Amino acid sequence: MEYKSLTKDFKIPVIGLGTWGIGGYLEPDYTKDKELIKIIKEAIALGYSHIDTAELYGAGHTEELIGEGIKGIDRSEIIITSKVFQKNLHYQDVINSCTRSLERLRTDYIDIYLIHAPNPEIPIDEPMRALDYLVEQGFVRFIGVSNFSVQQIIDAQKFLKNKLVINQIPYNLCTRDIDYKSYCSKMESEIIPYCQKNDLIITAYRPIERGILLDPHPVLNKLSEKYGKTKGQIAISWLVSKKNIITIPKSTNIKHLKENLGAIDWDLDEEDKITLDSIRFDNKKCIKSN
Ligand SMILES: NC(=O)c1ccc[n+]([C@@H]2O[C@H](COP(=O)([O-])OP(=O)(O)OC[C@H]3O[C@@H](n4cnc5c(N)ncnc54)[C@H](OP(=O)(O)O)[C@@H]3O)[C@@H](O)[C@H]2O)c1
Repeated sequence: MEYKSLTKDFKIPVIGLGTWGIGGYLEPDYTKDKELIKIIKEAIALGYSHIDTAELYGAGHTEELIGEGIKGIDRSEIIITSKVFQKNLHYQDVINSCTRSLERLRTDYIDIYLIHAPNPEIPIDEPMRALDYLVEQGFVRFIGVSNFSVQQIIDAQKFLKNKLVINQIPYNLCTRDIDYKSYCSKMESEIIPYCQKNDLIITAYRPIERGILLDPHPVLNKLSEKYGKTKGQIAISWLVSKKNIITIPKSTNIKHLKENLGAIDWDLDEEDKITLDSIRFDNKKCIKSN
């Protein structure tokens, strides 16, 4: 596994496990629990030590499955990211959400706790004061945000004693600088350069844009042939070759889990990174299917 520095003393793997849809989407789905717990254990055995989740996923059931999946594994070997939903950003709601996530995950601490998305209805000092409290109490090790613009990061940081170390955004070869369904815009021109300059790790979510980047594309097809790698591996390699960027592809298929890990331990040539930097996809496809 390759790592990037989250802080001076803490490294995070460039590829982690996404979990949206594992155990349900907006509602819990209990029908495949046994199989999914096994997959989480197998993913960890393959080398996925960073697991990304949220209280939203499966209305909490995804966290329960992760709690089962990490049972019996040395907790210090696993990095868990979870997120507080944007409707729960009042001070006490953040603390309550975190407490419930800890119970479902059956753990004493969450490694990285994020605000899932900004909520203009709730003053930003409330969730920020709550994040500081959670760090002070030892319930959370590191804090961050998701889907935040540069200005929103600056505004949030003003109320914090601890530093925001992550911004999780929908960045991939297809989304680039587009207005991603009003969640995030100017990722390439503003958010990423700001995070790189100010020591925030950028977690690129949806690295293969839920499969859209696996569709035929002349440049990806050519590079896939040149390196003997799949289009997904090329897309992930391009992402994590960038300063401060890590990613979290989701899969519950062992073949895909192995394939996604195969995006590292080799490098794209500089000229091919530049070619990929300059290609454009049909962005409407990304937004439309969102
Ligand atoms: N912060 C936020 O607001 C936010 C929003 C969305 C997502 N996320 C996080 O980011 C993670 C990743 O995003 P995502 O799950 O939406 O999209 P994704 O990782 O881009 O794509 C997941 C889809 O691609 C398939 N897949 C994965 N690897 C594959 C491979 N090698 N070959 C073929 N198909 C493959 C998966 O199916 P199989 O399971 O069958 O492999 C799944 O259907 C989420 O799970 C979640 O943890 C965060």
